[in-house]
Amino acid sequence: MLSKIILASLAAAPVLAAPAGAHHHARRDAVTTVVQYVTAGGSSAPAASSAVSSAASSPAASSSKASSSGSSSPSSSSASPSSSSSSSSGISGDLSAFSGPSSKFQDGTVRCSDFPSGQGVIPLSWVGFGGWASIMSDDGSTADSCQDGYYCSYACQPGMSKTQWPSQQPSDGRSVGGLECRNGYLYRTNSDSEYLCEWGQDSAYAVNNKGQDIAMCRTDYPGSENMVIPTVVGAGSSQPVSVVKEDSYYKWGGKKTSAQYYVNNAGVGVEDGCVWGTDGSGVGNWAPVVLGSGYTDGKTYLSIIPNPNNSDAPNFNVKIEAADGASVSGECKYEDGKYSGSGSDGCTVTVTSGTANFVFY
Ligand SMILES: *[C@@H]1O[C@H](CO)[C@@H](O)[C@H](O)[C@H]1NC(C)=O
Repeated sequence: MLSKIILASLAAAPVLAAPAGAHHHARRDAVTTVVQYVTAGGSSAPAASSAVSSAASSPAASSSKASSSGSSSPSSSSASPSSSSSSSSGISGDLSAFSGPSSKFQDGTVRCSDFPSGQGVIPLSWVGFGGWASIMSDDGSTADSCQDGYYCSYACQPGMSKTQWPSQQPSDGRSVGGLECRNGYLYRTNSDSEYLCEWGQDSAYAVNNKGQDIAMCRTDYPGSENMVIPTVVGAGSSQPVSVVKEDSYYKWGGKKTSAQYYVNNAGVGVEDGCVWGTDGSGVGNWAPVVLGSGYTDGKTYLSIIPNPNNSDAPNFNVKIEAADGASVSGECKYEDGKYSGSGSDGCTVTVTSGTANFVFY
């Protein structure tokens, strides 16, 4: 199963503990695993942990391939959070890297039928839920439109993470996240944050040296765990990676969680790649490689993780490289179908200062 293989993959960074077992979700055979690893001494408190998960539900048939594109230019519109405009920003978002948001979300003012684009929130047109990443209730049921009694989970632009999930989570191991729809209006589920998206640690970027765009697809977590949240890295360009501040972010069973990205082959478009893929499709949960990122106790942990669903070499190589002046320990690359170190298990580096790049080449 996924859990075992991911565990093995992180064994290079000493694995201390993992929860008793994988959680098999009620509706599908999805797996959520939280892996916790510690500093080399082994006796200290957990240094980092990561949640590796796969989808709990299948996405709706893609309905629209219209307006999403990785190259869409960021709009300068100052859409207020109560604006339902979907014309704003496309999937690159409306904020420049590591600035803002500045306009607070107002509970009870946005209709559930209006997707709250802007201030870092991006609409997912191809997922088929009116821009939302997923729509789930506490009891595990799902819906196609954001409506009373449901959590409506959303995506944030590259480098950011959603701030909203209820502190009271289902007891069966599933997670839920997003805004709550009540009496036809949207409400925050985490009032500690006045904004819907927050920046992660500014310590990792994805750099694409290939000739085609690369769609990195983050899991909607807490939430459906579908890999629908896009970071499209244009050919010859770079994007921030969301390095989750784990100490304050969503905890699963008391354990810290990190961001996970399924990376499609170069040239696979976001509408085709950032989806729950079908068996053998090579996209989404079948993509050839997974990346992990998280920040805790002053250190950033970046990983390249095999996807047990796909051992074919991707049409790119990827390595984690220190940017100028950064301190990075460990070596990590996936080149010609082989991981550095043991060969097949994936690898992790620690960034103690500065930034590191996931370089696709
Ligand atoms: C591989 O795909 C299956 C279903 O198609 C899914 O249940 C499983 O979680 C996937 N594994 C990963 C690592 O995404």
